[in-house]
Order: sequence, then structure tokens, then C-alpha cells
Amino acid sequence: MKIGFVGLGRMGLNMVQRLLNDGHEIVAYARKESSREPAKKMGAETVASLEALVDKLEAPRKIWVMVPEGEATEETIRELWNLLDKGDIVVDGGNSNYKDSIRRAKTYIPKGLGFIDCGTSGGIWGLKIGYCLMYGGEKEFVAQLEPVFKSLAPKDGYLHVGPSGSGHFVKMMHNGIEYAILQAYAEGFEILNAKKEFNIDLPSVAHLWNQGSVVRSWLLELAEDALKKDPKLENIKGYVDDSGEGRWSAKEAIDIDVPAPTITLALFERFRSRQEQSFGNKFIAALRNEFGGHEVKKSGRI
Ligand SMILES: NC(=O)c1ccc[n+]([C@@H]2O[C@H](COP(=O)([O-])OP(=O)(O)OC[C@H]3O[C@@H](n4cnc5c(N)ncnc54)[C@H](OP(=O)(O)O)[C@@H]3O)[C@@H](O)[C@H]2O)c1
Repeated sequence: MKIGFVGLGRMGLNMVQRLLNDGHEIVAYARKESSREPAKKMGAETVASLEALVDKLEAPRKIWVMVPEGEATEETIRELWNLLDKGDIVVDGGNSNYKDSIRRAKTYIPKGLGFIDCGTSGGIWGLKIGYCLMYGGEKEFVAQLEPVFKSLAPKDGYLHVGPSGSGHFVKMMHNGIEYAILQAYAEGFEILNAKKEFNIDLPSVAHLWNQGSVVRSWLLELAEDALKKDPKLENIKGYVDDSGEGRWSAKEAIDIDVPAPTITLALFERFRSRQEQSFGNKFIAALRNEFGGHEVKKSGRI
């Protein structure tokens, strides 16, 4: 199948490679020539504008968008809306907020355009293993993308989960769960590391637990790899970013009255990781001093 591909970063470029490997024809676009060059070397036809991309495809066109969520996706989807004709289909494979996807799908309907919101999981390993795909949208459009989903995913690794928005909703919860799992492993390994008298070898324990234990997992295999490279993680700063899904999961839980303390706390721990000094902790120390005369440690600024 001939497919237009927008966004050739860490995800997009590997996805293009996987599609080419499976015999698809790709017309690829990224803003920078330096981003387009590797796709060209792989065998994709590259173009320097969305207009050129649309011109190179035959109707009904199929275009996969893999750019950062928010403004980049908004602009791309809007520009394509202006360029495309009835029956053409756009897939947003990025990590967009599902509410944005519902809104975008609604703007596509009056023009007879198809819009599919596809949660894509697999990271940089997707090229080799395949991408796990969860997508929402109208059946008539989804069915036309079946060969593309099949090429990108591992066996049984793609699913039409429901109407517009549901693909990105399911991906949001996938990532919310990921926050909680990472946090649980992090706490467990921190306690193991802190028990100095046992001098536990962390990479060995990670390896051991991957051999049939109930907490074995792919994330634990990655933990094993990371700990083998740097057993005490001495070269890594304990600063953890978040890219949206954790906070969207927590907000959703509040909106629909579902208790989700572990995911929410895992998100807040990431916020905490970015504080050099917590005002809240200073506040508690100050008040304990006020009411009980408990000692405070000085910050060194007085
Ligand atoms: N990385 C992951 O593990 C992962 C996993 C699942 C889903 N995702 C999602 O996949 C999407 C892409 O992620 P990524 O990691 O591949 O990002 P990335 O490495 O930063 O690449 C982003 C690509 O989008 C293009 N782009 C950036 N801003 C743009 C704009 N305003 N208009 C048009 N194109 C723009 C860039 O073009 P130029 O090269 O021309 O600058 C680049 O080709 C995101 O939505 C992300 O959340 C990522």
C-alpha cells in the first residue's frame, strides 16, 4: 500500500523502516532535511511539504502522523484538513489527548474525511518487536488501514478498541499503568539498595526475578540492562519528566470518581523528583520547630 508518513523522529523513522520492510511504498515528510535524509536512504520517497506529500498520493489517501502531541499535531491535522479530499484518511499515531482526538475527528466528518486516533506503544524497540496499536474511529476507515496495522504490529498486536477518542484513551491508561509499575520497581530497588549490611547485588536480583518470578516483566528486563551498565545508577540524576498521560490519567480518575491513588502518587513523585528543595518539607520542618522546638537543619543561606 502507498502511505504518506509525517514525522520522522525516534518513532516515525523506525515505523517507516518497518513498513518498507513489509513492502509498502512510503512518501515521507519531516520539516528538516536532516530528518528526511535517513528515510530517503531507507528507500522512502521524501518531500519537503505536506502539500507535496498529498500530491504524491492517490485517492483515497492514507496518511500516518507521528509528531509531538499538542501544537505540532494540531497544526499538522489542520493543514491536512485543508489539503485532503472526501474519503482520505489520517491516522494520528502520537500520544494525543483523547479529548483533542474526539474534537479533531468531529472536524473531519463534515468533509467526509476519515480520522483514526491510534495509541502506539513499543518505543525504540518497536522496529524489531513490532508496535502495539490501539485505535479508535469509524469502521469503514479503520478497515482500510488493516494492512498498515498488520505490518507495524507483532502478531495479535493491534485492536480497534471503539469510537473516535477511544484509541488514545486506552493508550493514556496504558501509560498511566506504566507510571505505577515503574514507581513500584523504583521503590523496591531503592529499599534493596539502602539495606547496606546485605550489600545486595542489584543487577543479579533483577536478573533472578526475571527467571519465573511473579514480578518478572519486560520493564524488569530493561531494569536489569540499566543496572548492569551502572549498578548504583551513579551517572544518572534522579530527575524524572512526564509527557502528559500520567496527569491525564489522574485527571480522568477525578472526573469520573474512580480512586487511582497509585498512578496519581507515581505522577506526584515525578514532580517531587524535579525539586532541589521542597517548600512543603521546609514548611513542615519550620512548624515542628514552632510547636515542639524540634531542631531544623539550616539551609546554609543565613
Ligand atoms: N518516543 C517514544 O517512546 C514514543 C512512544 C509512543 C508514542 N510516542 C509518540 O509518538 C510521537 C512522536 O514521538 P517521537 O519520540 O518520535 O518524537 P521526536 O523524536 O521528537 O520526533 C518528532 C518528529 O515530529 C516532527 N515535528 C516536530 N514538531 C513538528 C511540528 N510543529 N510540525 C511538524 N512536524 C513536527 C519532527 O520534525 P523535524 O525532524 O523536521 O524537526 C520529527 O520528525 C509523539 O506524539 C510521542 O508522544 C513516542
